[in-house]
Amino acid sequence: MENKKFYITTPIYYPSDKLHIGHSYCTVAADAIARYKRLQGYDVMFLTGTDEHGQKIERIAKSQGVTPKQYVDKVVSGIKDLWKEMDISYDKFIRTTDDYHVKAVQKIFRALYDNGDIYKSHYEGWYCTPCETFFTEHQLVDGKCPDCGRPVEKVKEEAYFFRLSKYQDALIDYIESHPGFISPQSRQTEMIANFLKPGLEDLCVSRTSFTWGIPVEFDPGHIVYVWVDALSNYITALGYGSDDDSLYQKYWPADLHLVGKEIVRFHSIIWPAILMSLGLPLPKKIFGHGWLIIDGGKMSKSKGNVVDPKVLVDRYGLDAIRYFLLREVAFGQDGNFTNEALIQRINSDLANDLGNLVSRTVGMIQKYFGGTLPYEQTGTDFDLDLIRTAGDVVKKYETAMDQLQLSDALTELWVLIRRTNKYIDETQPWVLCKDPDRQPELAAALYNVAESIRIISILLQPFMTQTPKKIWAQLNIKDERLTAWEAVTQWGLLARDLTVSKGETLFPRIDMQKELVELETALKAAQAQAVANQPKQEDAASDEEFITIDDFDKVKLVTGEVIASEQVKGSKKLLKNTVKIGDETRIILSGIAKYYTPEEMVGKKVVVVANLVPRKMMGEVSHGMILCAADAEGHLSLMTDDKQFPSGCEVR
Ligand code: ME8
Ligand code: MG
Repeated sequence: MENKKFYITTPIYYPSDKLHIGHSYCTVAADAIARYKRLQGYDVMFLTGTDEHGQKIERIAKSQGVTPKQYVDKVVSGIKDLWKEMDISYDKFIRTTDDYHVKAVQKIFRALYDNGDIYKSHYEGWYCTPCETFFTEHQLVDGKCPDCGRPVEKVKEEAYFFRLSKYQDALIDYIESHPGFISPQSRQTEMIANFLKPGLEDLCVSRTSFTWGIPVEFDPGHIVYVWVDALSNYITALGYGSDDDSLYQKYWPADLHLVGKEIVRFHSIIWPAILMSLGLPLPKKIFGHGWLIIDGGKMSKSKGNVVDPKVLVDRYGLDAIRYFLLREVAFGQDGNFTNEALIQRINSDLANDLGNLVSRTVGMIQKYFGGTLPYEQTGTDFDLDLIRTAGDVVKKYETAMDQLQLSDALTELWVLIRRTNKYIDETQPWVLCKDPDRQPELAAALYNVAESIRIISILLQPFMTQTPKKIWAQLNIKDERLTAWEAVTQWGLLARDLTVSKGETLFPRIDMQKELVELETALKAAQAQAVANQPKQEDAASDEEFITIDDFDKVKLVTGEVIASEQVKGSKKLLKNTVKIGDETRIILSGIAKYYTPEEMVGKKVVVVANLVPRKMMGEVSHGMILCAADAEGHLSLMTDDKQFPSGCEVR
C-alpha cells in the first residue's frame, strides 16, 4: 500500500490567558480532521502547541512577580488539561520555549542571514502589544491598531529585517498556480488584492527592547521577533535543524495548516517566503476558518464575553459541544455563538434525532424479542431506500470532509439519521409486533435500523469521541472490523443473533427556558472567576475607578446628524442609521428600535463614538456607536446636541 501520510497543524496559542471556546473551535476542528484521516488509514501527525515568547507575556509575568517561564509553565499546563478534557488527539505538543525549538530557530535565523535575506537596519514604527505586530504609519486606522483597534506604541530601534519584498512575485506566481493553497478561495483573493498586489514591505524580525524571546546567536541583544519564531514551529516540531530530522523527512510538507482568518496573512505570505528562502517545500494548504462571534463581536477576554469551554463540557458533555462547534457554523465563515442555538441543537439533533433513534431501537429489540434479534431480511422498497441512502450519505460525507466542509459532513450524516427514524415510522414495528405472522418482517426492520445505526456510529467518530463507544456497547459490537472505516460501505455486517443491552440516555433533553437562565449564570460565574484570577497588568490603573485624561482622549466623540434610518432586516432591536459627520457619512447600527422609529431618528443631532472598530451585526457593519442614556429598566434616550451645531463637532 502507498504510504499515506497526513500532517495537520493548529496555530500555536498564546498562553497569555485561559483559552476560550474560540480556541477550542480551531482545535476541535483540527482534531476531527485528524481523526477522519486516521480512520481512513493515513499515518497522521497532528501538531498543536503554544507560542510563548514576546513582550506581552514578559509584562504579565512581571506584574505577577514571576519569571516568564514560570508564568507560561502554569498556563500551558492548563491548556494541556483542556485539550485532554476535550479529547484532542494531538501527536505532538510543541512549546516555543522547548530547547530543540530555540536551537533550530537560531539556525534558521542564521541561514536566512547567511543567504542575504536578513539585513540589519532601523525600525521605526508602531507596535501593538496585544497583537504582537508592527505597523507602519499608514497601516494604522485612526492612529490605532488596524487589527484590534487598541492603542499602539511608537518604537524606534535597531532591528534585523527579512527581505519579504523580494518574494512578492514568486509568491503571487505560486499562489495563482496552486489553486486551493489558500482556502477558502475568498481568503486567497483577499491576500492577493490587499497584501501582495499593493506590494510587500520587508519584515522586522528582531527586537532589542525586551528580552523574552530567542536570542539571535550572532548578535546578542537582539531577540528573534515573533513570526520567525512562531511559524518555524511547524518544522522544528518535526526535528528540522536538529540531529534527528527523520520526522521532518517523513511528514514535511504539511498537508494542512488550519488557522483563524486573522493569521492567514502570516501563514500564506510570510511563512512561504521564509520557506522559499530556506529552499524548503511549501505546505500544501492553508485553511482560514472564521471566528466564533458573540453579541456581534469576536469573543475575547478583553471584551469580557468569553465562553469557558469547561463550563459547557461539564453541563452537556463533550460530544454535544464538539458537535455543536462543528455543526452550527459553515467551516470557513464566522458564526454566531448563542446559548439558545446550543441548547436547540442538543435537543433537536442530539436528544431527538440521534439519542432517540438509538434508545427506541434498543428498547424495541428488548421489548419484542427479549433483547436478541433473530436474523431476517425482507428486501422491501423501504429497506432498499434506507440502504441506498446510507450509501449516498457516505459518499457525500466523504466529499464534504475532503473539502474540509465539516458542517456539511454532519448535515449529511443527519440525513441518514433522520432517514432511519423515518424508516421506523414507515415499517411501524408497533403494528408488526401484534401479528405473529409478521415476526420476520419485524425482525428484518429492526435489524436494518440497527445496521444503519452501526454505519452512523462509524461516521460519528471524527466528531464525537464517546458516543460511538456507547452505541457499540448497546449493540454489543466488539469486533473492530464492524467499526472500521471500510465497514461503512458494507451493509449487513451486524451479528445475526444481535443481542442488545440498554444503556444510559445518550443526550438528555434540556428544558430550554430553565437552562438558559442557569447557563447564563454559570458562564458569568466562570468569567468573574477568570477575571478575579487575572493578573493585574502594568496598565492596571485603567481598570480602576479613575481614568486619566489620556484614557478619555482615546475615545473620539463627535456630533453627527442622522440623515436616513431603517430597520435592520431580521432584527427587532436594530436600526441602520446613515449619519452625516461633517463631510463624511457613515452607517451606524443602533439597538434602539424599541424606543425610536426610523422616522423619529431622521434629523436628530446625535453624539457618535467615531473610533470604534467596525463591528458586524445581523449581516451589516456598523462604523461607530450612537450614545444614549439608559435608565434602570434599560429604556434608551438619545444624547442630542442642545444648540444644534453643525455635525462633525468634537465632543469633549
Ligand atoms: O494567533 N473564534 O495565537 P492566538 C475562532 N500565537 N477562532 C478563534 C477565536 C474565536 N473567537 N479566538 C481565537 C496566535 N481564535 C499566534 C499563532 S501560529 C504560528 C501563531 C483562534 O492564541 C485564532 O483565530 O491569539 C487563531 O487561529 C488561534 O485561535 C490562536 O490565537
Ligand atoms: Mg490572536
